[in-house]
Amino acid sequence: MTMNVQTALANLALPVGTTLDRYIMQRQTAFPYATGELSQLLRDMALASKIINREINRAGLMDITGSAGSGNNVQGETQQKLDVVANIRFIRALKNGGEVCALISEEDEDIIHTGNDNAKYVVAIDPLDGSSNIDVNVSIGTIFSIYRRITPVGSKATLADFLQGGDQQVAAGYILYGSSTILVLTTGEGVSGFTYDNSLGEYILSHPNLRQPRAGQIFSCNDGNEADYPIPVQAYLRQCKQQRLTGRYIGSLVADFHRNLIKGGIYLYPQTARLPEGKLRLLYECYPMAFIAEQAGGRACNGEQRILAIAPTSLHQRSPLFIGSSDMINQLNGMSLNG
Ligand code: AHG
Ligand code: MN
Ligand code: MN
Repeated sequence: MTMNVQTALANLALPVGTTLDRYIMQRQTAFPYATGELSQLLRDMALASKIINREINRAGLMDITGSAGSGNNVQGETQQKLDVVANIRFIRALKNGGEVCALISEEDEDIIHTGNDNAKYVVAIDPLDGSSNIDVNVSIGTIFSIYRRITPVGSKATLADFLQGGDQQVAAGYILYGSSTILVLTTGEGVSGFTYDNSLGEYILSHPNLRQPRAGQIFSCNDGNEADYPIPVQAYLRQCKQQRLTGRYIGSLVADFHRNLIKGGIYLYPQTARLPEGKLRLLYECYPMAFIAEQAGGRACNGEQRILAIAPTSLHQRSPLFIGSSDMINQLNGMSLNG
């Protein structure tokens, strides 16, 4: 064989890479409590996300775009059909998986008990993030956060299991259904990204040890609300514009966050006149994203303190969110202090 043929054959037979399953297996001993249950739970999440991914890709063909017509969710926001479908898929996967005793979801007011009271974990989930983008083929996502329960195994999970605080998360992740689908995960030892290979039906490790650049060129917020933002935030945004930074806002937290994680940037969802607590939900939007940001070297705060240090008081509480590259968050905080 000539050298060229050998190289061509070697290229054709390149290894596929590490699947999410193998990664989880290899790292299991590094997981808190390493009993295999968390690994299984992560596999259940991945499986549900593959099903959602399939449904999103077929959405336009299957009459599952548009509003669900059943009214509003607990946030008073219109439910889209895919919000409802994704919610059902994740709940079913977690019930069948057996590792979760209860979960909370953006789409349900109360705690959902799975019937597996012997299970050790609880999950908080935003099944479909960025629902206003579903109908227009723009990136959407899923966000999740995992805790070890604090109530005794065998009993029914309670509010206390969900109100442990962000620093108690044992794992968090998101799935971005974008130009490709990627699952980004932390178990408290850095952040890794796994790109979905459609043909194999597997997530493959594509972004090991993700680190967020300390600063970047991007700021992301709903600029239409600027006049309502706190004065120091307005001042910060003015500075971003004076410095000719790039404004990028998709309106799906997962997609905006992911871009800024890779490229460097800041995402802001401050309190507004209409939403004095901010818009985003602490337990299943802010906490998991903050955990991932910190594990990647970024920062997340509410303008006063670290997101992860906020003491939670209710399942669906909201919080302002400033998240992204550490230098940019520091600068914003500096302005607030001088504000
Ligand atoms: P969800 O679709 O889960 O309700 O979340 C939407 C959130 C978030 O993803 C996004 O960044 C923000 O709402 C967009 O809000 P505005 O339309 O007010 O900018
Ligand atoms: Mn959301
Ligand atoms: Mn949602």
